[in-house]
Amino acid sequence: MRVSINRIKEMKKKGEKIAMLTAYDYSTAKIIDEAGVPLILVGDSLGTVVLGYGSTIPVTMDEMLHHTKAVARGVKNALVIGDMPFMTYHVSTEDALYNTARFIQEGGAQAVKLEGGVNVADKVNDIVNCGIPVMGHIGLTPQSINQLGGFKIQGKSLETARKLLADAHSLEEAGAFAIVLETIPAALAGLISKRISIPTIGIGAGAGCDGQVQVISDMLGLFTDFVPKHSRQYAKLAGVMSKAIAEYKDEVEKGIFPTEAQSFPMDESILAEL
Ligand code: KIV
Repeated sequence: MRVSINRIKEMKKKGEKIAMLTAYDYSTAKIIDEAGVPLILVGDSLGTVVLGYGSTIPVTMDEMLHHTKAVARGVKNALVIGDMPFMTYHVSTEDALYNTARFIQEGGAQAVKLEGGVNVADKVNDIVNCGIPVMGHIGLTPQSINQLGGFKIQGKSLETARKLLADAHSLEEAGAFAIVLETIPAALAGLISKRISIPTIGIGAGAGCDGQVQVISDMLGLFTDFVPKHSRQYAKLAGVMSKAIAEYKDEVEKGIFPTEAQSFPMDESILAEL
């Protein structure tokens, strides 16, 4: 049965930790879903770890929808969340509703995520009022990287910590069902998690969050440009892939691959007629 936002909220109430992972394609989404992970985010990290952009800013709605559709086709149980790209929910309510609806109707997602707090709370409220669940995202919000001045820890001063608390409360009041807390001090994330009733999902925000999210390419060791401090490599798949590819190349070059096992026979008499 499909995981609902009520189930996710109930997990917080019961003190059950929530695991969330990103996915960008059918096969990976299917594996994550079969492992029982309840939340799958088609993150706009797609831009960096799959499409090779320098940031998430160039990612378009069409790119996100293309990958959301693939993920949705592979998922039976998890709640699939589409990540709203840069500037697709700021300009007007019409824009925000139109783009959100595309994720649900065309993409096959059950919810959307967007970055921001107090500044986007009205949009969150409008989307939720249309019956679409919204996950918030505060702290280090990569779409605002030019304004933030780099990938820095957020909420270290009294003023910025207070702002993050206000952002979390405003998202809760606007009807968000959960909030991602990215790259903020663990103690602050723990405090926010205690102060609000909806689940917090941390990435670089310590163990006091109600759940954790990781970029699948980071935790599987597939993305090799850099390893973020907040991620742990549970596997080193890039190395496994390099070894397999080198072996394949070698076998092709030496004529070892393919063998009869990978080939198709033909009737000798037909062959003789040719
Ligand atoms: O785009 C993404 O993958 C994200 C997660 C890191 C939360 O926003």
